[in-house]
Amino acid sequence: KRMHLLGISGSLRADSTNTIILKTLGSLLPPDITFEIFEGLDGIPHFSPGLDSPRLDSPGLDSPRLDSPGLTDTDAVTRFKTAIAQADAVVICTPEYAFGVPGTLKNALDWTVGTGEFNDKPVSVISASPLNSGGSNALASLLLTLTALGTQKNEASALSIPNVKGKIENGRVTDAHTLHELRAQCTNLLGLIGS
Ligand code: FNR
Repeated sequence: KRMHLLGISGSLRADSTNTIILKTLGSLLPPDITFEIFEGLDGIPHFSPGLDSPRLDSPGLDSPRLDSPGLTDTDAVTRFKTAIAQADAVVICTPEYAFGVPGTLKNALDWTVGTGEFNDKPVSVISASPLNSGGSNALASLLLTLTALGTQKNEASALSIPNVKGKIENGRVTDAHTLHELRAQCTNLLGLIGS
């Protein structure tokens, strides 16, 4: 089976620099690896405990189900969880908002706490910012969340990209150093699969 990578962008913006970085990373992968960017983070409803489905391995559990009429959008959550479950590894690329992780992304991640799709999953995190700080607060916060989710990562699994505006041209990363760093992220992430 071909290895499959899932990209998740923390930005919903049309010309998002973080989404551009994800796309560039995807283009740097070896040709035998499939890559998909998750679409639909903005359709995921606000998380609330009890709205999430019971674990598949606890069929007796009788919690309120998302598919009960009028509750909330079960499809968007199921699509998100399935995309993670089916990926051999995940790369998250996110902006920093107010020194933290964008609420949209954090909300989506919270849906997986009870069902464990990220448990043991190799995950890389990248944060791009137009500022010198390179989104390092968001990166640190996201790494803590991934520790709570039990993802597989190492010291090389995080990349901060400062001053991102000067590193992108016509919707592509053109900065040689950044391209080198993105290739290193790919190599490190793929090395974590099956280890
Ligand atoms: C920002 N930005 C920002 N940048 C940063 O490095 N640290 C921060 O705390 C914030 N906070 C922040 C809050 C809000 C509400 C906005 C709209 C923006 C700037 C941010 O990094 C910049 O807009 C990026 O271009 C966003 O990433 P995308 O959308 O290009 O991927």
